[in-house]
Amino acid sequence: MDKPESKAAATAKSPAGLEGVVAAESSIGDVDGINGVLIYQGYNIHDLAEHSTFEEVIYLLWHGRLPKRAELEDFRRTLSENQTLPAEVSEMIGRFPRDAEPMDSLRTAVSALGFHDSQSRDLSREGALRAAIKLTAQFPVIIATIERLRNGQEPVAPKDGLSLAANFLYMLKGEEPSEREARIMDVCLILHADHELNASTFTARVVAGTLADMYGAVTAAIAALSGPLHGGANTNVMKMLLEIEKPERAEEWLREALAQKKKVMGFGHRVYRTEDPRSTWLRKFSKEMGEARGQTQWNAILETLREVMFREKKLYPNVDYYSGSAYYLMGIPLDLFTPIFAVSRISGWTGHILEQYANNRLIRPRAEYTGPRDLSYVPIDER
Ligand code: CMC
Repeated sequence: MDKPESKAAATAKSPAGLEGVVAAESSIGDVDGINGVLIYQGYNIHDLAEHSTFEEVIYLLWHGRLPKRAELEDFRRTLSENQTLPAEVSEMIGRFPRDAEPMDSLRTAVSALGFHDSQSRDLSREGALRAAIKLTAQFPVIIATIERLRNGQEPVAPKDGLSLAANFLYMLKGEEPSEREARIMDVCLILHADHELNASTFTARVVAGTLADMYGAVTAAIAALSGPLHGGANTNVMKMLLEIEKPERAEEWLREALAQKKKVMGFGHRVYRTEDPRSTWLRKFSKEMGEARGQTQWNAILETLREVMFREKKLYPNVDYYSGSAYYLMGIPLDLFTPIFAVSRISGWTGHILEQYANNRLIRPRAEYTGPRDLSYVPIDER
């Protein structure tokens, strides 16, 4: 990156929201927003969604290549050996308010996990990978534990031999999902794993760039993901569908929302100027789940909103548009949709943190000062 000689040069053209600013080098993932192409370490997301598994994708993001069979088996075993939560963290989750937002509970539990990793300050590649494995293995367990305990149920221990996606659904509901449901969840996790310098990944890199530990960087990333302009949008899309209720009300609802200049959740993107390639898959799952459950109205509403939004504003749906209805039709509570995003994105966050530690420079931009200068100090009693 060029080093500007003066602050004026550095800030003269700073675009709002850092739009278009290249703030890091990364080999993990790339978004081509014009052509609607997303790649992870060189592989097209469509190929990975078609042929791969989430575990394989995690390995790819962290190691830069797909694993051989024996490596993948070993990796799966390592993940499964690292799933157990420290008892203190499970007990702490049991004391969270029942009505706490699950993203807040996840953030607090992950922050506490750091207390129980005596090697958390080891930021070597080996040490950071160890923390990445623990976090990635324990995210689904934490979220399932939050869900079970807030409903007065005992947590369900993970089952050996299940994929991370199937195990997550199993721990959540206490029964094994169908093969199809497990595969749909697996592909959803693949699709959400990385998205270059999105707000939460950027947050993780900024925190890691100070050489804070991985637990701190991930805790901050969870907070960034929770907002409605980022990962929080998927829950809000489902709330919108429930409010609209009937396909014949969709167009009128949308026109009213646009007239009131409301941001309609699940539409628009900072980078894509065409269809988000992830939404192609999620649309298919939402439709399939709706037909399987005899609830085709959600997809009908989504399709009407999509058509009208394109006609009126030339905006496309983003990744959060269809995922919510697919999760809803799997019987997952609305406020767990964003935590599911986190179950996947932990792989990308930790991949970026590993990359940041490996070639670190403090991330410290400048602000364009817009306040007054040269004011005279006035003693308090004279103001
Ligand atoms: N509904 C209505 N109008 C919109 C929307 C929307 N969802 N998104 C963008 N616009 C309009 C916006 O009003 C503006 O119009 P104008 O130029 O006439 O003022 C124009 O499009 C540009 O929008 P922007 O807000 O400047 O774009 P941005 O790049 O700053 O924001 C965004 C991107 C994703 C935050 C925004 O599109 C948005 O708020 N979408 C709804 C929330 C959402 O779905 N978030 C999930 C994002 S994708 C997954 C993720 O990151 O987690």
